[in-house]
Amino acid sequence: MTVRNPLMRHEWQSEIFQCKSNDISTFTSLLHTQLDRHDFTATTLGTVDGYPILACESRFYDPEKPSVLVSAGFHGEEPAGPWGLLHLLTKWEDGGPHSLNITLLPLVNPTGFLRGTRFNYNEQNPNRGFGFKDGRVLVQEDTSEEGKILIANSALLEESSRDGILTCHEDVLQTGSYLYTFEESSRPGIFSLTLLDTLKSCVALTDATEIDGLPLEGHLIHNHFDTSFESYLVQAGAKVGVCSETGARQPIDQRILANSALSATSLSKQNVRFEFSFPSWYRC
Ligand code: NI
Repeated sequence: MTVRNPLMRHEWQSEIFQCKSNDISTFTSLLHTQLDRHDFTATTLGTVDGYPILACESRFYDPEKPSVLVSAGFHGEEPAGPWGLLHLLTKWEDGGPHSLNITLLPLVNPTGFLRGTRFNYNEQNPNRGFGFKDGRVLVQEDTSEEGKILIANSALLEESSRDGILTCHEDVLQTGSYLYTFEESSRPGIFSLTLLDTLKSCVALTDATEIDGLPLEGHLIHNHFDTSFESYLVQAGAKVGVCSETGARQPIDQRILANSALSATSLSKQNVRFEFSFPSWYRC
């Protein structure tokens, strides 16, 4: 089995954004332009080696509306997530879907992103160490700096993911793509299959039957619980969850469009209510 090297550097040239995939200054500048345009509130949850971890919330919070969280950039060698989320923001008009309370974590691991490495500058894995016991998230021995910041903000993150959590990852070992999904039912339901349809319309799906020792069924790993961020939020009450894994051996721009489309699907009220409508402007 090939093993991921968490310190290997990866970078790609994006034609959509006309820069390298690890160009954090261009990413940050374009992100703030879009957040301002949509009147999102950006809060710094904490800093890692001087770089902020932002939570960005849509205006007009309404407890009656569904609340969905989209996160990206936990692993630095998986840049299509953050760029895909940014791409979606450039396509929105006037604050995005008004029928939802939207919270974005656009770049959880900035020090890994700028180095193009999976782990952070301190060789920690930001997507492990979310222990969960007796209804509460707990810091563990292997919790990263980023993880400790997120756990310190658990009340905000649990509330903002009440109706769903999407976390955008990639798999540098794969050409094809796949999903981890979470639903109440033991078999994948409409939510999982809708996200899979979106993925399939943008990129080729993997031929693998096993990923990291876990069996893939129909390109999905369903209801697998570990100490990841998404697993924690589902245990804390998120109604549905998905962790997307685009195969990073595909061109970067195709992966960016796939992550943009997955984010759009997760953030459609229809989808939260299990009635899917695909945004008409997507041409993956
Ligand atoms: Ni990842």
